[in-house]
Amino acid sequence: MQINVSQVLNKVSREDLQRFEGPLKEFQQQLHSGTGAGSDFLGWLDVPVGMDTGELAAIRDDMERLVPMVDVFIVVGIGGSYLGGRAVIEVLKHNFSHMLPEEKPHIVYAGHNLSSGYLHDLMEMVSHKDFALVVISKSGTTTEPALAFSLLRGELEKKYGQHGARKRIVAITDKEGGALRKLTREQGYSSYVVPDDVGGRYSVLTAVGLFPVAMAGKDIHQLLKGAKDMRERLMNNNTLDNNEAFMYAAARNALYQKGKTTEIMACYDPMWHYFAEWWKQLFGESEGKEHKGIFPAAVSFTTDLHSLGQYIQEGERNLFETVIHVEKARHVVNVPEDDQNLDKLNYLTGLSVNEINHRAETGTIMAHVDGGVPVIQLGIPQADEYNLGKLIFFFQYACALSGYLLKVNPFDQPGVEAYKNNMFALLGKPGYEKETEKLKKRH
Ligand code: PA5
Repeated sequence: MQINVSQVLNKVSREDLQRFEGPLKEFQQQLHSGTGAGSDFLGWLDVPVGMDTGELAAIRDDMERLVPMVDVFIVVGIGGSYLGGRAVIEVLKHNFSHMLPEEKPHIVYAGHNLSSGYLHDLMEMVSHKDFALVVISKSGTTTEPALAFSLLRGELEKKYGQHGARKRIVAITDKEGGALRKLTREQGYSSYVVPDDVGGRYSVLTAVGLFPVAMAGKDIHQLLKGAKDMRERLMNNNTLDNNEAFMYAAARNALYQKGKTTEIMACYDPMWHYFAEWWKQLFGESEGKEHKGIFPAAVSFTTDLHSLGQYIQEGERNLFETVIHVEKARHVVNVPEDDQNLDKLNYLTGLSVNEINHRAETGTIMAHVDGGVPVIQLGIPQADEYNLGKLIFFFQYACALSGYLLKVNPFDQPGVEAYKNNMFALLGKPGYEKETEKLKKRH
């Protein structure tokens, strides 16, 4: 993976970046020694090297058992319990896999919204299909996945009976104590553990992400290998020039200090949409606290150049961009020559669509930099499991360091409780009587 920060140097100087190197060295030490904020949640640092081979074998066995049984596989979870797996699957899948019968099982998602339309349509669709599901919830009590699981379990039981349903449910939750763990034990579901010391948004390389990715037929060993190689590099280097996470954390914090309060992840392939969603959650939930933090947004280019492109070029100048550059396309599509050239496209003959996309990327970067939007470019050779593993570990590590630079705890998320408390009070959940009274007085 390569990082290119030359296109931020019109807004921040090399000295501005260099100032962060000392603090970054110190925070790296704290991260490695577990002496920084949130040190109870550093398990993700060792996941790529500490993955239990027994667990990997169990994932393979469950996957081999379930795949022949199902047309549709549902991943039930929200936030960190589903975004990482979905990010990897969506980058790697066939764009039209849902239309291809041989691409079985079709992976679909539930428990990440409270839309009755979505749940209705999903239940209707699976009533005509063979299906199974994995329910992923560390706490086991999150409303959205708990509700979706309850409904879908009912569908499974209706269709396959209680015993049959049990064989079609896999649970990924905490080791002890949570409501889902209790149910899992009672029902004898196949299950995996979300380690206590790994928070949701840092959990993609545990069974949380690996199991759905394996069900989609993707290579989880290569994903882990990429993460392991990136871990090796980042943990053993500590300068801006040999540690890409240092450079990324320094560049974004230097830009933040110059008033660049929104970071836009720009990808040039719509398949990266969910990768950007995962990244948004990772950075948004890790850094947005104590009234601080860079707001993470995302665009899909070139599509969004015809909508948000105008704002990025000429709107409020509080933006910077992080571009994911993928060198090699999965498939080459060449532009054919047209004898008559009626469409005036012959100037493109001899180029591949990917080369045209790259020129669009270069042209856009130049335009945005000229328009006052600095650009950090992250380059990978191709979109495969190995490089995604690298990128995932890179962002997790950079996020931890960047959070420390901002002087926040990058591993907690106290702010997500506020809406839940109100929602539970409004729903009359037992234990929320005081909040209900308070809300009544407000209206
Ligand atoms: O990153 C996080 O911690 C959150 O996004 C959680 O993953 C999300 O709230 C789901 O929580 P749970 O896995 O307990 O259902």
